[in-house]
Amino acid sequence: MLTLSIYEKEASVPIIGLYAPEDLGTATQRPAAPVRPEIDPPQRMGTLPTPSLEWTPEVERNTAHLYARVKHVISPVEWPLMAPLVKAINELKRERDAVILAHNYQTPEIFHCVADIVGDSLQLAIEASRVKAGTIVQCGVHFMAETSKILNPEKTVLIPDSRAGCSLASSITGADVRLLRQRFPGVPVVAYVNTSADVKAEVDICCTSSNAVEVVESLGAPTVIFLPDQYLARYVASKTSVKIIAWKGACEVHERFTGDELRAYREADPSVQIIAHPECPPDVLAEADFTGSTAHMIKWVRDRHPKRLVMITECSMADNLRAELPDVEMVQPCNLCPHMKRITLPKILESLLSLREEVTVDPAIAARARRSVERMINLRN
Ligand code: 13P
Ligand code: SF4
Repeated sequence: MLTLSIYEKEASVPIIGLYAPEDLGTATQRPAAPVRPEIDPPQRMGTLPTPSLEWTPEVERNTAHLYARVKHVISPVEWPLMAPLVKAINELKRERDAVILAHNYQTPEIFHCVADIVGDSLQLAIEASRVKAGTIVQCGVHFMAETSKILNPEKTVLIPDSRAGCSLASSITGADVRLLRQRFPGVPVVAYVNTSADVKAEVDICCTSSNAVEVVESLGAPTVIFLPDQYLARYVASKTSVKIIAWKGACEVHERFTGDELRAYREADPSVQIIAHPECPPDVLAEADFTGSTAHMIKWVRDRHPKRLVMITECSMADNLRAELPDVEMVQPCNLCPHMKRITLPKILESLLSLREEVTVDPAIAARARRSVERMINLRN
């Protein structure tokens, strides 16, 4: 008999089951944290020399148009430390035939000054499938780089720090999905893209927070297993008549927000607008004026132009929006994703110089995972 203790305690939340490794007997079989690969000599042979990183009048001139984009969030004292790296990275991208894909949670100097393509998980997956350059540098977390590799098996995909993980992706394994399928024969499985390639290979279709409801309903099934984010699952369940069986994963950044915190913002200023990401717990979403993926939140702010705004999501996204819309006053609860913050300008430079760290996915797993990701992308197009 499975334990549904959490579900029983939160019976008001419309999911019909909540499973964890303990329920499947896999709690003691979790994979160890990924090991960072050693630099091996053949890869180092492709290494280019480090360019000058001095702050000179030429660097100042060359990067002035980029500083204009971030001047509201990066001080004139900080910029001379960043600008030489920005210039070197932008030159190396051309030399290496590389593009930089950056998630909305990357810091402003990455997001506004070196990225070629920015977006939420869905936009990045779609753009990854269209990239022409031979090399992709993924400024985001490991599952995003894996998704790019799955969609571009013939390209070189680099991540500046392969330790950039995700609490959701590490909460579930391919073996867990196979056991869930045995428990619920015939019930289709939807995986949030915040999962490893191994998990994507075992499911019917992927989704992101931009399209989760649409993906669940596209299956035409009365019940769907939705994993691994229990809060996104609850949000989806509240928006559809499809019955949802969830997994007990959570985003370590969004699960920290509380409804009390949001009520306090509103009591302090009743005119403030509050927008939240659906990875937050239900009591947080109940207090928000709008719930959406990072791309939907950005669009909401651009369209509405609120006077005062609280963004209930990773902190750098508010910085990136403040750079673009300085007249919107942001109240910024600064919850940072430690994984996203592993990606820095010096590491991006090193990645382009040494062509590391290369992301690889077993071709057999990649082929099965690609079906799940492409099925999601094709829903849109
Ligand atoms: P989206 O950008 O797809 O909303 O996802 C948020 C997230 O947490 C990515 O790690
Ligand atoms: Fe994962 Fe949360 Fe960080 Fe996104 S913000 S990468 S979901 S831990």
